[in-house]
Amino acid sequence: MKILVTGGTGYIGSHTVVELQNKGFEVIIVDNLSNSSIEVLDNIARITGKKPLFEKFDLTDPGKTEDFFQLHNDISAVVHFAAFKAVGESVHFPLMYYRNNLVSLINILQEMINNGIRDVVFSSSCTVYGQPEKLPAREETPIQKANSPYGNTKQISEEIITETSENENIRAILLRYFNPIGAHESAMIGELPLGIPNNLMPYITQTAIGKRDFLRVWGNDYRTPDGTAIRDYIHVVDLAKAHVVAVERMIANKGKKKIETFNLGTGKGASVMEVIQSFERSTGIQLNYKILDRRPGDVEKVWADTSFANQELGWKAEKSLDEMTYSAWKWEKALAAKAEHEKKQGN
Ligand code: NAD
Ligand code: UD1
Repeated sequence: MKILVTGGTGYIGSHTVVELQNKGFEVIIVDNLSNSSIEVLDNIARITGKKPLFEKFDLTDPGKTEDFFQLHNDISAVVHFAAFKAVGESVHFPLMYYRNNLVSLINILQEMINNGIRDVVFSSSCTVYGQPEKLPAREETPIQKANSPYGNTKQISEEIITETSENENIRAILLRYFNPIGAHESAMIGELPLGIPNNLMPYITQTAIGKRDFLRVWGNDYRTPDGTAIRDYIHVVDLAKAHVVAVERMIANKGKKKIETFNLGTGKGASVMEVIQSFERSTGIQLNYKILDRRPGDVEKVWADTSFANQELGWKAEKSLDEMTYSAWKWEKALAAKAEHEKKQGN
């Protein structure tokens, strides 16, 4: 069966392509490489023994999207990752975010309808919950007003998909990711943050490798046991596997509703200090960090109730925080070795 993975050369997409191919699915990736590299295709091939099919174009282009679907008329389901994802950037360039994230989704849905493709798995985010009053966050936890245009694109996307499914032959699984970190154990694929990372894990590994002087811990006066903010970090490989299960569920007609929503996390919260301690424990490296004021817009604590995904999907995150931090470090070292090699070659 052929699965279209949009954004498949990106961070979560590439790990999902690996897991889909490991399960015997044929994958075709569409990506415009705006935030990823073509080399990812070879690295996926090194891991799985198979290079996925690939088409480079921008999914906000309706004509190109239409041509693509007409040419590839044997697609069984779509996993839609392609989107911009930098929260801060979205505050500065809201139209860029609304256009990219919403128009690409609209084009995909339109062509799915035109070509009789029913099933889509969509990348949503725990950001839709804001700071929940009650923890852990359940799928029924009320959605709060988004605190960034990026977050709003996820809320609006969920609505677009839901409303479309009411009148069309479209079904979807909306996956609300908590905080994906780590990399494939081969260290051949991972996260490639452009410029100075905003997210915690790449900032930690870049500090440890010497690219940054120190990690800034944003606040230690939260109402949490050690005062630092709590998140539900999930290994990207566990996350990727959940997408395979979601695709299999849809193809096998096992879904109970046209739109199903699942939280993807471990169900356990970890504070910023606990992530630092895990990194130090798993790598043996002492991390240079300083405590600063809170980062505006951050929530204090959020973690997932994953029981619905565990029961309904038969999926559970398996990897520990130490495995996450260690794999992230292995990936950072692989990136550094590659950069060193390229420097020597004079590239
Ligand atoms: P990523 O940037 O690594 O991957 C996204 C990919 O989509 C990139 O390869 C990019 O080149 C491609 N892309 C973007 N716009 C495109 C377009 N118009 N046409 C074609 N290709 C396009 O991001 P990621 O971390 O892998 O995230 C994947 C999805 O998961 C996104 O929708 C993101 O919003 C969502 N998500 C990510 C996180 C996270 O922490 N990484 C958390 C929650 C949700
Ligand atoms: C952020 C986004 C969220 C998005 C997710 C994935 C915000 C408010 N939320 O989540 O919408 O889905 O990224 O892209 O931006 N931290 C530090 N020092 C750092 C970096 C982070 O202390 O240098 C702390 C943060 O304060 C937070 C935790 O680490 O408590 C995790 O931060 P981060 O990795 O940026 O993810 P979120 O803020 O949870």
